[in-house]
Amino acid sequence: MKGTVLYEVRDGVALLTVDNPPVNPLSDGVRAGLYEGLAKAEADSSVVGVVLTGNGRAFIAGADISEFGGSGEGHGLAEVFKKLEYCSKPVVAAINGLALGGGLETALCCNYRIASNQAFVGLPEVNLGLLPGAGGTQRLPRLVGPAEALKIMLSGAHVPAKKALSLGIVDSLSDNVVEDSITFIKEKAANSESHPLVRDLNDKVIEARGNENILVEAQAMTAKSRKGQFAPGQIIKCVEAAINLDDFDEGLKKETDYFIECLVHPQREAMIHIFFGERAASKVSDVPKDTPIMDIKKAGIIGSGTMGGGIAMCFANAGIPVHIIDQDADNLKRGISVIEKNYEFMVNRGRITTEQKDFVFGLVTSSLDYNDVHDCDIVIEAVYENLELKTKIFKSLDEAVKPGAILASNTSGLDIDSIANSTSRPELVVGTHFFSPANIMKLLEVVRGDQTSNEALATVMSVSKKLKKAAVVSLNAPGFIGNRMFFGYTAQANMLLLEGALPHQVDQAMESFGLNMGPFRTMDLIGLDLGWRARKLGGMASPLHAKIGDELCEQDRFGQKNQKGYYNYSEGSRAPNPAPENESIYERISSENGFTRREISDEEIVDRCMLALINEGADILSEGVAQRAADIDVVYINGYGFPIWRGGPMHHANAMGLDVVLEKLAKYKDLTGSDVFAASSLLIELAEKGGKLTDAPSKDDRRERLSFEKSSVANNF
Ligand code: 3HC
Repeated sequence: MKGTVLYEVRDGVALLTVDNPPVNPLSDGVRAGLYEGLAKAEADSSVVGVVLTGNGRAFIAGADISEFGGSGEGHGLAEVFKKLEYCSKPVVAAINGLALGGGLETALCCNYRIASNQAFVGLPEVNLGLLPGAGGTQRLPRLVGPAEALKIMLSGAHVPAKKALSLGIVDSLSDNVVEDSITFIKEKAANSESHPLVRDLNDKVIEARGNENILVEAQAMTAKSRKGQFAPGQIIKCVEAAINLDDFDEGLKKETDYFIECLVHPQREAMIHIFFGERAASKVSDVPKDTPIMDIKKAGIIGSGTMGGGIAMCFANAGIPVHIIDQDADNLKRGISVIEKNYEFMVNRGRITTEQKDFVFGLVTSSLDYNDVHDCDIVIEAVYENLELKTKIFKSLDEAVKPGAILASNTSGLDIDSIANSTSRPELVVGTHFFSPANIMKLLEVVRGDQTSNEALATVMSVSKKLKKAAVVSLNAPGFIGNRMFFGYTAQANMLLLEGALPHQVDQAMESFGLNMGPFRTMDLIGLDLGWRARKLGGMASPLHAKIGDELCEQDRFGQKNQKGYYNYSEGSRAPNPAPENESIYERISSENGFTRREISDEEIVDRCMLALINEGADILSEGVAQRAADIDVVYINGYGFPIWRGGPMHHANAMGLDVVLEKLAKYKDLTGSDVFAASSLLIELAEKGGKLTDAPSKDDRRERLSFEKSSVANNF
């Protein structure tokens, strides 16, 4: 059994301490320990009350997520919570740290709650495709009112102790939560005959009866932020039951029914796959666990543009002092003022206080001289994509920055090994591909060069956790993981356009599938001119898939930046408007390239765009560019607007079944004759065994590097 509950009696009070490191989830051993500990306390006549707390940094981080989908053996949560709620001795939850999901639900079954000043509480089940299924949807509305409870459950936010006190979730705060709870419960046991139960507090739910607005507002809140997700609607139905049903236990029954519907829903599996995927991605299979990690006390950034400023904010937000260098005084001034404005915006939105802004902005310093980053432990170069320029900067940094410091390049596709070889410390050079805006986007691709040391890699992975990034390691190969897949995906969208589909049809099909933004809107946002200019400079002809985009550029249509691309845009707006004037261009280019335009179904659009992603992802996996299938999913969800509830392209392929994926690849290969649909050998191998992409053998020979020049995708850049 996993986890336990320590039992001791202190001064006539039973102290139950959940012990299931590192964050004390309610695994089978904890549930058994709680049940038996409570029974023991009840049976001991010398015990007057019970204090329930957690060991280490958490009170309880919720149900054990790894048990979902399993057999759920031993004492069930409902049984344990019944024992807790009806304990014959008063119980106080001494919330020493994180109390999330089933952890907060445990505390809500106690008579009293005292929290440490550092604690956080919340019901984040929605992020796992679930609802708080151990009474949370019925008890929290009784404590804080249905509207506030819905906000907490639908956002999944972690509520800091002070706010939890002001909302009435906890009764008091303490710096010495266990000792104070022992004293408190002894007094309560001596002075009170009855002790409150949250289930009996009906005023706030009765007050909300007949107020339709609460539920309507909740639906509006999730319509955009949780588009396509199943669990939010279920949570709203539970709160509706809490408001309208007189009998608390009837509400609990409804909650259980709705919870089970979430549990068996494919979105739950997809979202939990991403929860564990993000955590697994931070572990590098061939880097030993005990690899020493360097202490990053100060960071340096080269370049004060959008990327440099955003990356600097990530460090400052994590409490790490950061020094920005730019060679141009005006650029630097502008960059620093953008950072300040971003922080002011956050203050105005109530996301941070003025004091917090002063603190984090105070961690950002700047100057014009490379020598001023000499004392930094990591320096990240964030200038525009030009290998020659970057190599030159790295030479200067190598001379200016103290020995032993890590030098990183924020590149979306350049060869890290060439950059590393320009320094005397290639083992300390690594790629850090942040996504724009860097202070907001969660994804960080960490590019492992040929000579990058385990220590440098482990340190960057560790610091990225402090920056709150979902970091994924990629080998040094063109496009790394994300952009390589993205190029194949947008190329497929462009092929559909050549064959007869229109941009808005492709976008609508992909957005209905769940993407935040369809491929043509995305290309307009990025700028159609980037590839076109590069090809012109290099004297290269347009590849077939880029023929239409390049022609649009010839006609001065670059995308959102000049308000016309695949769509038209009005001044100051990002909303796409149809561009009927483009249709004659599509028709002409189609016919010039031998296509007879035809009706294309939404199903074909989704299939072909998804197959392009899946097949390229399988190649990336078999080449060892990504460590595991889930890493690819983490990249795609956190960097490319892929719906989390579909679990990423690789999970989606597994959910379809690899045999179905192969059938579809064969069908579209027949239809188009394109090699894009020639099945990856890994897909064939796994499908033959009835396997999944998650079963792909781990490649321990990953240090075999791919040649940058020889890669099949190099031509796409
Ligand atoms: N169950 C099982 N394992 C868990 C867990 C949980 N609830 N929460 C965290 N873990 C594991 C992680 O997988 C990780 O394992 P690893 O070291 O092997 O990779 C380890 O604990 C540490 O977790 P993190 O790396 O995420 O540590 P952090 O300090 O960064 O974050 C945390 C801690 C905020 C608690 C974060 O882990 C988290 O958000 N956990 C999930 C909380 C949650 O969603 N709870 C609700 C669960 S569902 C539920 O309770 C249903 C109920 O209503 C019936």
